[in-house]
Amino acid sequence: MQHEAVEKNIGLMGILIILVISFGGLAEIVPLFFLDDTTKPVKGMKPYTALQLEGRDIYIREGCNTCHSQMIRPFRSETERYGHYSVAGEHVWEHPFLWGSKRTGPDLARVGGRYSDEWHRVHLLNPRDVVPESNMPAFPWLENKIINAELTPEKLKAFRLLGVPYSEQDIAEAKASVEGKTELEAVIAYLQALGLALKDKR
Ligand code: HEC
Repeated sequence: MQHEAVEKNIGLMGILIILVISFGGLAEIVPLFFLDDTTKPVKGMKPYTALQLEGRDIYIREGCNTCHSQMIRPFRSETERYGHYSVAGEHVWEHPFLWGSKRTGPDLARVGGRYSDEWHRVHLLNPRDVVPESNMPAFPWLENKIINAELTPEKLKAFRLLGVPYSEQDIAEAKASVEGKTELEAVIAYLQALGLALKDKR
């Protein structure tokens, strides 16, 4: 009888469905805000330097993240190729995170240190010069554009507001550290910083 009342009353059923889903959500999602695993950075992690942070912005502007994921799944086929699987603690300072799921190109979560700066320079200017079969687009303009350093300290401040531990000194030195640098240099600095905290673990 009570069951029939629920089945015949779509309004009541809707409310009950929302209740059940909310409870499930609470039980599954809320603990993630309090677990050390998901809220604390992994040991040895450093916030991006001002130059790396600018590089990350360019990476997003150029849509690199639409072809490259930054999330190594915990499967042998992935860890053999890319290294230690990605963990939440590596991403607590990422706003927004760039995990992605589409891999037109390889995952870049641990590309830091895999190639030399010079390799990246040649590769970004024309990927076919180092990987003949590559279908990655070339990004030659990055070499000619100088970063606008005026906003860099503001960016660091915004990230600090979100919990990234930048010091007053980091912010004070931010402008000078990117001034005159090209966008290419910034992107390479960013790529070289990716995934270092768990690099040597397997
Ligand atoms: C249209 C898709 C596409 C876009 C956009 C793209 N890439 Fe790629 N990328 C690829 C493909 C495919 C490869 C594999 C072939 C190669 O190495 O060139 C690759 C390879 C790479 C590699 C070498 C990875 C490794 O482990 O060997 C790096 C580093 C890289 N891309 C960085 C970038 C950056 C930085 C950008 C943005 C400025 C970018 N990619 C944009 C498709 C893309």
